[in-house]
Amino acid sequence: MSTHRFFANRHEEAIWLSKTNKYYFDLDAVRVPFDEETKAMYKKDKRLNPESIEKGKNPTNVWEIGRLNGNSVERVGHPTQKPLEIIRRFVRALSYESSIVLGFFAGSGITGRVCIEENRHSIMVDADASLTAYFKKHIENMGTSFFQKPYQIIKDVDIKELITQMKEQSVMIDTPDFSEDCQEEESVATSQRERIVAHEVAANHSERKEELKM
Ligand SMILES: C[S@@+](CC[C@H](N)C(=O)[O-])C[C@H]1O[C@@H](n2cnc3c(N)ncnc32)[C@H](O)[C@@H]1O
Repeated sequence: MSTHRFFANRHEEAIWLSKTNKYYFDLDAVRVPFDEETKAMYKKDKRLNPESIEKGKNPTNVWEIGRLNGNSVERVGHPTQKPLEIIRRFVRALSYESSIVLGFFAGSGITGRVCIEENRHSIMVDADASLTAYFKKHIENMGTSFFQKPYQIIKDVDIKELITQMKEQSVMIDTPDFSEDCQEEESVATSQRERIVAHEVAANHSERKEELKM
């Protein structure tokens, strides 16, 4: 069929599940800054909180992030590698510094790379042993910089022993207590799963306010 006869399929869906409604979620870590023009315009609206404007907007559950093209510098050779920006948003919002992120279908090992950069531990699993080679390439791509966090890569470990080690090494940061917000958090999570939202620029005050609050 000619590519001119239909809208090309370019979206992917992510399923977000939590065992309880007391899951960790850090919206501020993934807010998208407003451009200077929008910021200036919003700041003139005295009904809006300037602090919220500075923090940026909720990225919503529709993310416009292009897929990696063939010659992207991020590529390490895995056929279905995801863009760093997507994985970083998940890692930042759904885990906290020093926590342990588990990637069951690690693929290229991109989650491991993001975890190093974002100061988290990670455990990666993949049926394909090429994971190690792909991950090495990620490490090369990361390069070295002044801001590089120290890290250690351990292969084929005893998981129980590893988790104990990680916990001992971690300076655990207190996670916020969401118990009072449980009801609200749960309904947000449910609606996130059910809704398909069209991306629009907020045009009036209530939409702007919603944009800041969400
Ligand atoms: C879509 S890829 C993941 C890509 C990854 N998100 C990235 O950006 O690099 C899925 C991976 O799951 C692995 N996989 C499939 N079935 C598996 C299984 N039963 N156990 C472990 N890994 C499996 C495949 O080898 C493949 O690398």
